[in-house]
Amino acid sequence: MKNQEAIEKRRTFGIIAHPDAGKTTLTEKLLLFGGAIQTAGAVKNNKIKKTATSDFMEIEKQRGISVATSVMAFEYGGKQVNILDTPGHKDFAEDTYRTLTAVDSVILVIDCANGVETQTEKLMEVCRMRNTPVIIFVNKMDREGKDAFTLLDELEDKLDIKVRPLTWPIGMGDRFKGVYNIYKKGLNLFQANKTKKAEEIIAIQDLADPQLDELVTPKFAEELREELDIIDGVYDTFDREKYLSGEIAPVFFGSAVNNFGVQELLDTFIEISPSPIGRETDLRFVSPSDDKFSGFVFKIHANLDPKHRDRIAFLRIVSGKFERNKFYSHVRLAKNFKFPNPTSFMAQDKSVIDEAFPGDVIGLYDTGNFKIGDTLTEGEKMMFKGIPSFSPEIFMELENLDPLKSKQLDKGIHQLTDEGVAQMFVMQPGNRKIVGTVGMLQFEVIQHRLINEYGANCRFVPKNYYKACWITTTNEEQLESFKRAKGNYLAKDKDDNLVFLAETQFLLTMAEQDYPDLTFHKTSEFKLEVK
Ligand code: G4P
Repeated sequence: MKNQEAIEKRRTFGIIAHPDAGKTTLTEKLLLFGGAIQTAGAVKNNKIKKTATSDFMEIEKQRGISVATSVMAFEYGGKQVNILDTPGHKDFAEDTYRTLTAVDSVILVIDCANGVETQTEKLMEVCRMRNTPVIIFVNKMDREGKDAFTLLDELEDKLDIKVRPLTWPIGMGDRFKGVYNIYKKGLNLFQANKTKKAEEIIAIQDLADPQLDELVTPKFAEELREELDIIDGVYDTFDREKYLSGEIAPVFFGSAVNNFGVQELLDTFIEISPSPIGRETDLRFVSPSDDKFSGFVFKIHANLDPKHRDRIAFLRIVSGKFERNKFYSHVRLAKNFKFPNPTSFMAQDKSVIDEAFPGDVIGLYDTGNFKIGDTLTEGEKMMFKGIPSFSPEIFMELENLDPLKSKQLDKGIHQLTDEGVAQMFVMQPGNRKIVGTVGMLQFEVIQHRLINEYGANCRFVPKNYYKACWITTTNEEQLESFKRAKGNYLAKDKDDNLVFLAETQFLLTMAEQDYPDLTFHKTSEFKLEVK
């Protein structure tokens, strides 16, 4: 296949949601409509929230499931749709943020009763940082929820994005009649049906059409006419360019569990969503249509078999064509590697592929050479930007419980933090290691994996830090004076960048005031710019 043809064919996106809004259900229904699975229930819930967090077997199971469902690809309407899975559990939020660097657009699922929830806001912040195009799916319309106009206002207010409904609900809960498709001018009548695989849209070009009254009752028809009038008055007409630049989010209403509104969403998605887009590097912007291959690693997954320490690195292809068994340059290590068994993921199947194109995500078997953010090229010495680390929220000091195993512990903690399970900071001067995460669950994961995979026994001692801030400056003198004053709170991250571990917001603000020429970054996104 020609590169250009392959690029135009691909749509790579992620589904994000606050837990329980219906992400898993919607993913499954999309796969069902896409023909990638035959029956509902085939995609296991990629979540551990319903189990006690101490149930480690569940975490292990989760890890297994999330490899299998990391990328789900299927063909629909002449396009190759690649869904990148994002973990639902908030303790794995950082994994989700990184996955968002590998998608070209997202679908955000909202529960119509709960509206915008905390996790929704955080995920959208990450999308806004990169101007990722967003489509919103308001789910569970078969249940009583908030009024549709109230929901739209809430979305605009809390997510700091303009919205534009493309479908509009008629009633809600027990009185839910269906949706009117404003974009395609058709009526989609609601039936609670969990197995149907095609939606029937009744064309109604003109809202004055009396057929509308017959189909949804005159009362609902009148209400719909009035509401659509308001929508036309309040919201600008849908502008695809504004959607693509992340300014406007089109909104759909439906009920994932009832397969309702899902096909409409998918049909519009493949029509308006972007084909693979380029990415910035420290050298230049790389366009997908560049001849030469390039890609970056955004996720690393440990192999499930504890006897084998190999891992799978997930590579997003940005430009050119990736070929099996061809040598590529690993820019950070300045070494060439070839990959005999690159894998693609088609729903639940993994298979070895010979070639892959921009927008595709492939799995590379790795014996410890990759870190998150690594770039592969055909020789050009550039690194893709924007695989940020965020300041962790929970910090613990790592203590070795078995002095004879300190080498194993060191190796283990380095490899696990390369995988992005947690971040590690080494106190300066010295060798005390502080591990930082966004959730408690990771500490359990680390402890368990250190014992099982590396034979190293450790414990974690809580530390009272508020934030880890990466420091940059051009004023060396001020930096030296800061180092003298705050020596006990300075550490290096894995890439040798200087980090300030602030104990409270107040102390951070004080530091910012006292050392105005120092910049305290709460994400590591700046890194490539200053090197
Ligand atoms: P998540 O991945 O975002 O966490 O959510 P998930 O799809 O697991 O959905 C959470 C719950 O919401 C599930 O119910 C699911 O069946 C339900 N749900 C999803 N879409 C709809 C919808 O359109 N309408 C209604 N009424 N419910 C919906 P559960 O009881 O937690 O799990 P299950 O036993 O049904 O699997």
